[in-house]
Amino acid sequence: MDVRSFVRALPKAELHLHLEGALEPEMLMRLARRNKVGIPFRTVEEIRAAYRFSELQDFLDIYYRGMDVLRTEEDFHDLTAAYLERAAADGAVHVELFFDPQGHTGRGIPFAVAADGILAALADGRERQGVTSLLIMCVLRHLSEEEGFAAFREAGPYIADGRIAGLGLDSSEKDHPPAKFERLFAAAREAGLRLVAHAGEEGPASYVADAVDRLGVDRIDHGNRALEDPALVRRLAGRGIALTVCPLSNLRLCGVPDMRQHPLKRMLDAGLKATVNSDDPAYFGGYLVDNFVAVAEALDLDRADLVTLARNSIEGSFLDEAAKQGHLDGIARSAGADG
Ligand code: HPA
Ligand code: ZN
Repeated sequence: MDVRSFVRALPKAELHLHLEGALEPEMLMRLARRNKVGIPFRTVEEIRAAYRFSELQDFLDIYYRGMDVLRTEEDFHDLTAAYLERAAADGAVHVELFFDPQGHTGRGIPFAVAADGILAALADGRERQGVTSLLIMCVLRHLSEEEGFAAFREAGPYIADGRIAGLGLDSSEKDHPPAKFERLFAAAREAGLRLVAHAGEEGPASYVADAVDRLGVDRIDHGNRALEDPALVRRLAGRGIALTVCPLSNLRLCGVPDMRQHPLKRMLDAGLKATVNSDDPAYFGGYLVDNFVAVAEALDLDRADLVTLARNSIEGSFLDEAAKQGHLDGIARSAGADG
C-alpha cells in the first residue's frame, strides 16, 4: 500500500485548522459574486498568484482580505461543509476547528451569523459523514485583551451550552506575547473552555513556555521554536502537551527552507506529542493527507511513525476517554490490516 492510501485509511483527528483558511479561490470568487463584494481579482489563477508570502504578516493580510466575502450564515455553512467533505475524504474522524469571530464582527458581521452557520454545517457533518467536531474561537492577538474579552462575552451563550468548546490565540505573534492575554485565558478556564494558543511559529521559545505557564493551555499550536530550548522540550514531552504541527504551512511561514529539514521527526524523537495538520489549506496548498504525505516522503517516515502521528492526534484531542479509545482501536485495526 502506498503512503497516501495508508495514511488516508488511518482514523485521524485534525486539531489545527482555521476555517477561514479553508476558503478556496473558487469559493472566494463564487461568494464575491453572490454577495456583490468587490475583489481585486478576475480569475482563480489571479487569486492563486497573489498567494506569495514568506512571512506570517504577509499571509495574514491576504487571509483577512479574503474573508471579507463571508457575509451570511449560508456562506459560513458552505465553507464549513466544503472543508468537512475534504476532511472526511482524508479519513478524519474528528476535527477541532478554529474560527476568528473578531475577523467578522470587526467588519459588521454579527458573531451569531458566523457561529450559527459553522455549527449547522458541523451538525450535518456529524450526521452525514460521521465526523465529530468541536469549535474553538480564537482571539486575534494583534488586538487588545479588552477586545478579546468583548468577543468572549459575545460568545457567552455558546460557551454556556458547549457549542463553543475552546479558546485559542492566533494572528501576528511577534510582539504580542501570551502574557498580554493572561486574564482572558483565566476567565475562559473558569468558564470551562479548553485552552490552546499559537506559539513558537514566529515568536521565540519563551512564548511557548509562557503559553503553558501563564495561559495554562492544554495544547500548543505550531510550537516549532520550542526546539530551541531543550529544557522546555523535556517539560512539554513529560507533560504530554500536544503540538499541532502544520508542515506545508511551515514551509511558507516558519523558516523551513525545504521539507527535508522539517523538525517533525526530531520532535517525535524527543518524545513530543506532535500531530500533523493543515492550518490554512486553501493558502498553503494541501489538506490533512497532503501534509502527512509531504512530510512522510521528505523525512522518510515509516509506518510506525505514521501510526504514532495518528495516535497523537486522537490522544491530543479534547474527546472523552471512551471516544479516544474507540479511535485508537480503529487505528490499530487499520494499521494491522496493512500487515
Ligand atoms: N498563524 C497565526 N494566525 C493565523 C494562522 C497562522 O498560521 N492562520 C490563521 N491565522
Ligand atoms: Zn494556525
